[in-house]
Amino acid sequence: MIIDGKKVAFSVLEELKDKVKKSVKKPGLAVILANDDYSSKIYVASKEKHSVALGYKSCIYRFDSSITQGKLIELIHELNENPDINGILVQSPLYPHLDENEIIELINPKKDVDGFHPVNVGKLFAGLNPYAICCTPKGIMKLLKAYDIELEGKNALVIGRSNIVGKPIASLLTNENATVTLAHSKTKNLKEHTKKADIIVSATGHPRLITADMVKKDVVVVDVGIIRQFDGRLVGDVDFEKVKNIASYITPVPGGVGPMTIACLMENTYELFLLQNKGQI
Ligand code: GUN
Repeated sequence: MIIDGKKVAFSVLEELKDKVKKSVKKPGLAVILANDDYSSKIYVASKEKHSVALGYKSCIYRFDSSITQGKLIELIHELNENPDINGILVQSPLYPHLDENEIIELINPKKDVDGFHPVNVGKLFAGLNPYAICCTPKGIMKLLKAYDIELEGKNALVIGRSNIVGKPIASLLTNENATVTLAHSKTKNLKEHTKKADIIVSATGHPRLITADMVKKDVVVVDVGIIRQFDGRLVGDVDFEKVKNIASYITPVPGGVGPMTIACLMENTYELFLLQNKGQI
């Protein structure tokens, strides 16, 4: 069965739209773009489009390479204090002369819509309720839930140990009682691990890393990779055409995890808005 991320994301967004319509006050999302990266520009434009479509206040701060760490710090302080802004997102990566970790640590954890602040990462790791959970891992959990995929006691293999996807999804799956293995670029004999996995979440950005001979029958495959090929086609980490005949569930690229990331960003913004306006809405 092919997991339809577009459909699940659409229902998350529709539900949000209804809630926002009923609220007099509207959530506000600030996005900071301080890099020259082509994909980042596309992601930020999409974040703006979705915010506007939901009736959020959307503030995009685009900077050229003359931006200094000091100016960025000043902006974070301003946004932390601004009651109209409920979520602050610093698009990663930043220009190389900027210190991303310092900037993220200065965001008020209750406005950290990406769930990247150490307070939120720590809460997630401890099995507590973060103010916000990183959008892609949160979206993956929603997809697994939408398709009633059981996690308890299952062997879940996460490939890739990034702070944005690999580590947080490994925590979320552990919190749901899966037996989690976290593989990465230095893992030996990846196939030995994939062959044993009931669930594979692959987030490496290596096209066709996972081939049909590497997976067992009825595996659940979540493909977080998104790579643009020379011919312009988008592909994931998984050899979709072949693996789909063996898997019980599989996410396509595009149309799988991608739409969930943006839907969860919108949901996080709304949840932080509620948190910051407790008792007033
Ligand atoms: N760069 C690539 N993905 C992301 C994301 O989810 N959030 C932010 N802030 N930057 C990114």
